[in-house]
Parts: sequence; structure tokens; C-alpha cells
Amino acid sequence: MNSSTASANTLRAIDAARNLLGDRLSTAPAVREQHGKDLTWNVGVPPDAVAFVHSTEEVQALVKICAAESVPVIAFGTGTSLEGHFAAVKGGICIDISAMNTILEVNAEDQDVRVQAGVTRKQLNTHLRDQGLFFPIDPGADASLGGMAATRASGTNAVRYGTMRDNVMGLTVVLADGKIIKTGTRARKSSAGYDLTRLFVGSEGTLGVITEVALKLYGIPEGISAGICAFPSIEACCLVAIETIQLGIPIARIELVDAEHIRAINTYSKLSMPEVPTLFVEFHGTKAGVAEQSTLFSEIASSHGGTEINWATQEEDRLKLWQARHDAFWATKAMKPGKEEAIATDVCVPISRLAECVVATQQDLAAHQVYGPIIGHVGDGNFHVVLFCDRSNADEVARVKGVYQRLIERALAMGGTCTGEHGIGSGKRDYLRLEHGDAVETMRAIKTALDPKNIMNPGKNAGP
Ligand code: LAC
Ligand code: ZN
Repeated sequence: MNSSTASANTLRAIDAARNLLGDRLSTAPAVREQHGKDLTWNVGVPPDAVAFVHSTEEVQALVKICAAESVPVIAFGTGTSLEGHFAAVKGGICIDISAMNTILEVNAEDQDVRVQAGVTRKQLNTHLRDQGLFFPIDPGADASLGGMAATRASGTNAVRYGTMRDNVMGLTVVLADGKIIKTGTRARKSSAGYDLTRLFVGSEGTLGVITEVALKLYGIPEGISAGICAFPSIEACCLVAIETIQLGIPIARIELVDAEHIRAINTYSKLSMPEVPTLFVEFHGTKAGVAEQSTLFSEIASSHGGTEINWATQEEDRLKLWQARHDAFWATKAMKPGKEEAIATDVCVPISRLAECVVATQQDLAAHQVYGPIIGHVGDGNFHVVLFCDRSNADEVARVKGVYQRLIERALAMGGTCTGEHGIGSGKRDYLRLEHGDAVETMRAIKTALDPKNIMNPGKNAGP
């Protein structure tokens, strides 16, 4: 639907929203397009209008307008989610929270912070640096913290610090009827009531619009060492990750980057790493702790044919290494001009099954001649296959879809999940029931109780 064909109730909602926000309500086609399509092959659908909000109260007013007219509400942060999360599949008004970028409160002594939902992870870390604190969750993009909470994001540090699930302490949420609620407290634990914070974390905008986020922070460690280690095979990389975790080495980052990705990263980020399967690793702790961890890790690595770690000795080199890793999706996309349709899909399995899952996936890719570089947060048992597809080639589409389907089935058969990181959005809805069975009905019951008119990001996650 677009505004020229929008229904009467949508047009009334747009008029009321314009009265509220003036020129911060846009129906310009370019703005709507940009707020409807993500970076993947998931189908984009522009919303009927985009509202650029400044406060929780404005979100509340907009939700009330949309509720009165039964018009969908789609929250939008930086637009970097990867499963069609914000496609306006049933039309509606997109609420862009990116201008809600105030850091509201830093409690350095308690190591927590409260931010408006549009603050990005890099903005927060720049603000915190002088206080010796940092926030570790780092999806590739410089995403908004509200969006990261909504999608239960993770990244390269999750093996040590957990995901958004573990690091959100509380939320301010505007519910479907316009009520504003606050979840959580500043206490590090609580046994009081249902855990609404964790209900909203990962709900992908289907239960309410997150407008403020309270987060745990961490002291910047005294010792940080990062480097790369090359291996004879992807399987060797996985076996090293498995042993590192099983031995309880508190590694901060352990990222598998396959030879194809190294080639892409070398070109994109102007580096010259050997083009072989590689682990990017980082250790955090005291200087002595980091030395001990890296010695233990090196022993495991060499027992699987790994080279000595090539350390990024200067802070500048370390930052460059991780920026290159974060840009891997772009780097790989740039490798395949003419096959713009890509998806960095992800699955996650129990750590002991990681090598088996990755190797079987590689064999499947080869058997069906599908180009699918692999990259992964392997300390979590989580990996991506970046699948490319020429949509005009029906045979290729079928082969890619087959690999995609079997990847998910393989992960589930191993006790894993169809997505450890990127979420369900509109892209993976078909797999929710495969993974959760009848528990999907319980999810639906929660959705219906909180959003009986189904105006909150309809057609996504477990919602109708
Ligand atoms: C990454 C994103 C695609 O790991 O999740 O690069
Ligand atoms: Zn990832």
C-alpha cells in the first residue's frame, strides 16, 4: 500500500500525525522506501508515512492515533536489521526513533546507563570512554540500542559478555493502547513478578515500541590483546573454538572467518591477511590474565595446526581489525556484483555440535554448487552463511533455498535454533513452529493480550 492508495483510516491517522509533528511527518516516496527495505533479499514494503519522533510522549501520542484508527505502527532505529523486520507488510506509520539520541544517565559506580532508544552503540561507547567503561554488544552495524534490544542482538563479544538478553536491565515501552510502562529496576537481580524486560527484548516491535533502554556496563579491562590465527581448515577453527569454551578460557572474542571472507575483507578493508580459514581472537583481563589465556589458547590452536597468533599490537591496529570484521557483510556483498540479493543467514547450535554443523553445511554448499561464505561467532556455536542469489536464475534460486532450508533443519536436529542472532522478522516466520512447536500458541496468546488489534509491527515474529 502507498499513501495514494492508503485507506481512509490510514489517511486520517497520517493527518493527525502531521498535526502532532508538522514536517517531522513525511510521506515522501524516498523516505518511505528507505524505511521499508533492509539490506537483504527479504522483500521491502514502504510504510505509508514516517514519523520522526523526539520523545516517549510523542511515541505515545502517535500510538494512540494509530490505535484509534487500527493502523499499524512500525518502530525503526538505524534500519540495519537483517530479517525484514521493518517492512510495512500491512502498511502503516513507521516511527523513526533515531533522533531520540540522548544518554540520560550514567551510573559509573554501579556500572549501568539509561539511554533513549535511538542512541547507537558507538555513540554510547564514545561517551563512556573517558570514564573507563564500555558497552560490549556489537552487531556489525552501528545499530541503535533500542533496535538492538528489540531484536535481541549480539555480535563478537557475546561469548564473554552475553547478548542483549543478558545486558538489558530495564525498558520504557509504549504499549499498543498508548500506555507507557517501565520494566526492571537498577538492581542486578530481582525475583519480583514476570520478567517483562526479557519479554520485550527480542519481540521485534510486535508487543510495543521501546523508547528507553537501561543497560549494564563493564570496566575497560586493563589488558586487551587481539590477533589472528590461521588454520588448515574451517573444521580446525571450529574444533579450537569448542575446546576453548569447554576448557573455560574466558575468551572475549573468537570469530571464524573463512578464506572467502578473508579475500573479501582484504580487498574491502585494504588488509593483507593470508587467504585461509582464520580465527580472530581477543582476550580481556589483567595483563597477567590475558597472558595466561593467550598461552592456553595458543596451545589448543597449535594442536589443530594453527599458526602462531599474529597480534595486533597497537590499539589502532586492533580497532582496524575489528572494524574489518564488522564490515565483513559489506565486503562479501562487494565480491559478488550482479548478485545483489544476499542474506547473511544464521543458525546457532550447542557448542559440541559446532564443527559437525559447519562441515555438513560446507558439504551441502559444495554438493549444490551454491556460493556461501561462512563467518561466525563460533564461541557461541553461532555462524552465518552468506547466501547469494541471482533471482532471475530459477535453478539457482531453488538450490539456494534448498541449502537454506537444510541449514535450519540441521541446526534444529542438533538441538540448536534457526537464528542465534538476526531474529525472525518477516524472513524466518516459517521456522518458528518448527523450532518451538505448540509454544508458538503461547507466544500468540501474549501477543493477542497485549495487542488485540494487531497494530504493533504486524506480520513479524510470532504475531499474526
Ligand atoms: C556479522 C553480521 C552479519 O556477523 O551478523 O557480520
Ligand atoms: Zn553476526
